[in-house]
Amino acid sequence: MATVGLIGSGNIGQAIAKQAIAHGHNVVLSNSRGPDTLTDVVSALGPQARAATAEDVAAAGDIVVVTIPFKNYEQVPVEPLAGKIVIDTNNYYFERDGHYDAIDRGDATVSGTLAAHLPTSMVVKAFNNILAGDINSTATPSGTPDRRALPIAGDDADAKKVVADLINQFGFDVVDAGPLAAGRRYDRDKPAYGTRLTEPELRAALAEG
Ligand SMILES: NC(=O)c1ccc[n+]([C@@H]2O[C@H](COP(=O)([O-])OP(=O)(O)OC[C@H]3O[C@@H](n4cnc5c(N)ncnc54)[C@H](OP(=O)(O)O)[C@@H]3O)[C@@H](O)[C@H]2O)c1
Repeated sequence: MATVGLIGSGNIGQAIAKQAIAHGHNVVLSNSRGPDTLTDVVSALGPQARAATAEDVAAAGDIVVVTIPFKNYEQVPVEPLAGKIVIDTNNYYFERDGHYDAIDRGDATVSGTLAAHLPTSMVVKAFNNILAGDINSTATPSGTPDRRALPIAGDDADAKKVVADLINQFGFDVVDAGPLAAGRRYDRDKPAYGTRLTEPELRAALAEG
């Protein structure tokens, strides 16, 4: 059992919290407005959930999920995440986030940008290419025929193993897409983005991305 921290408690944060609780983990959730505004969310999730500030979530989580609008990434606390595994679900939508020239040019990636902000954390890109509602509705036990697969990318092999085990526990096969920079292969508008794919289908989609 681990404590899963959520920096961001919107669609994705709540869906991941629900899965984590269903598999025996505790969750600590935060948003931008403060823990008092998460009372209803916490009571819906039950006794394995509590709310805290983002700083406290970063300190409390064994694994911390950053799931906020990309434009706010510089607000993610750095020091309490040192040495920790950080799952980055974020996508870059210039319509919402404004333009980031380095990403637009292809000189930087979404998760690479977060990783540069968190230089002492092990960032793994995951859950960015699945609709929030599908995190619970398309999860199936290991061994289910045509099980959905999700990609991960990261530069730390041990961190990727931990995240892969968590995703498998939640209900998905896992395909290692490679280093963090390879996360661009399942960004917005790529073949592996948003679609329900099995492991072989996902491998093919990543190769095209
Ligand atoms: N929705 C999807 O199906 C989906 C799928 C895959 C990936 N994503 C990506 O995952 C990220 C989250 O998406 P979402 O749909 O869950 O967004 P959302 O429903 O808009 O929720 C965003 C959450 O982030 C919080 N937040 C914003 N700034 C924060 C900060 N500085 N510190 C702590 N919390 C902060 C917000 O809190 P307040 O409400 O208090 O501001 C809110 O709880 C986005 O980058 C999105 O592109 C979304």
